[in-house]
Amino acid sequence: MTDGTTSKTLKLHVKTFGCQMNVYDSERMAEALAPAGYALTEEMDDADLVILNTCHIREKAAEKVYSELGRVRLAKEARATTGKETMVAVAGCVAQAEGAEIMRRANVVDLVVGPQSYHQLPDLLAKAKTSRGVLATEFPTEDKFAHLPARPKKRALPSAFVTVQEGCDKFCTFCVVPYTRGAEFSRPVSQLVQETEGLAEAGVREITLLGQNVNAYHGEGPDGKDWSLADLLRRLAEIPGIERLRYTTSHPRDMADDLIALHGDEPKVMPYLHLPFQAGADRMLKAMNRKHTAEEYRELIGRIRQARPDIALSTDIIVGFPGETDADFEETVALVKQIGFAQAFSFKYSARPGTPASTLEDQVPEEAKKERLQLLQAVIEEERKRFEQALVGQTIPVLFERRGRKPGQIAGRSPYLQAVHSEGPESLLGEIVEVDITAAGPNSLTGVINSGFAWDDTVQATG
Ligand code: SAH
Ligand code: SF4
Ligand code: F3S
Repeated sequence: MTDGTTSKTLKLHVKTFGCQMNVYDSERMAEALAPAGYALTEEMDDADLVILNTCHIREKAAEKVYSELGRVRLAKEARATTGKETMVAVAGCVAQAEGAEIMRRANVVDLVVGPQSYHQLPDLLAKAKTSRGVLATEFPTEDKFAHLPARPKKRALPSAFVTVQEGCDKFCTFCVVPYTRGAEFSRPVSQLVQETEGLAEAGVREITLLGQNVNAYHGEGPDGKDWSLADLLRRLAEIPGIERLRYTTSHPRDMADDLIALHGDEPKVMPYLHLPFQAGADRMLKAMNRKHTAEEYRELIGRIRQARPDIALSTDIIVGFPGETDADFEETVALVKQIGFAQAFSFKYSARPGTPASTLEDQVPEEAKKERLQLLQAVIEEERKRFEQALVGQTIPVLFERRGRKPGQIAGRSPYLQAVHSEGPESLLGEIVEVDITAAGPNSLTGVINSGFAWDDTVQATG
């Protein structure tokens, strides 16, 4: 559409780094470029357009962009020898945070596009073809979601992400997100109902609602009032075909009573909650500007478990925040042990430019961070094993999503988000099936399809 080449198939390669919101954005970027004639390819060497969708959350994540750009340059040069042109775009949070710097450091880049401008991609690309070095990192006034094309009618998987909220106003002192994604913004309910209905028609059974601070969701409802995340989830649960709902990532401060109650009375909301607490010592929590204490977090978890006793909990933890002592770290370990997480993600603190914590004086030495991370991860791993071992012998509903690694095997997810493998026909992909869990391995659970479940010709594949 942009350059009159709609009939020609151009190849697009998207490489995604960072969080699930970037995964969602990558899909939407590909969809935005389809009308301009672009089809996805797994091979960078085949691509007329390469997009790196980047993450700025930790130093390592951000540096990956520059090493990846080295690879892109080689691909671009190799293609040039056969007379093929390659456009290169950098998107995502590094684009937002370091746009001009990327242009300066890597002249292989034709276009830098921030997360709020993806709807403009076809036009920006057309511009970049005639003038190298297009930078689009402002926060446009229009709603990008209203300008992105409708989602495709066919999907490979029965599970999909839907971003419902973007940005963050919390300003934890270590975090770049409020700067890279901007102020909190919630999509209106009607837009989300429409998108989810479309996904359901395309065979999607499970939706994960995404937001940097998803439980702060406060989008406009059809009644003109602000709806909470619980209101939104209740509405989406009514959509025919949608069987499972999840949401991530939540902040403890926004874990409202109606959302907690929902876990107790809406069976489509899965018994899984990712609720980062970051540190166990109140001193650290205060320095991080988390706005809650360890006791408040424990109390909150108590209330959530009262509403849904079997809920699987997950969290994020940072070790080695500036000023953290061994005693502070012990409080983190103690909290992890008290709660008993099904899963947890832990990181060494990484000083990020422009964040308040990066200029604090008492930075923790790398060696201490490394040691604490190892200790913590051993505790987390023990808990994960304990949680999964307790599922052995139980019968749980599994949403089968794809073929397994071995022939005859299919793979899906438990309500608690573990991968589950089982022998079974491909006709079950897209179905929720009762599975007897027989073993818990390091990466997945194994099970057999419950004998009470007839999986012969009576079952129609929808995935
Ligand atoms: N919005 C989410 C998390 C966003 S980033 C929330 O509020 O929890 C995902 C995780 O990365 C964070 O929970 C935190 O544990 C980690 N993280 C963020 N900034 C970091 C930094 N500077 N160094 C190390 N880990 C960090
Ligand atoms: Fe970052 Fe804190 Fe916002 Fe999460 S709540 S995105 S950690 S500033
Ligand atoms: Fe990374 Fe941006 Fe997500 S910094 S974690 S890609 S919001």
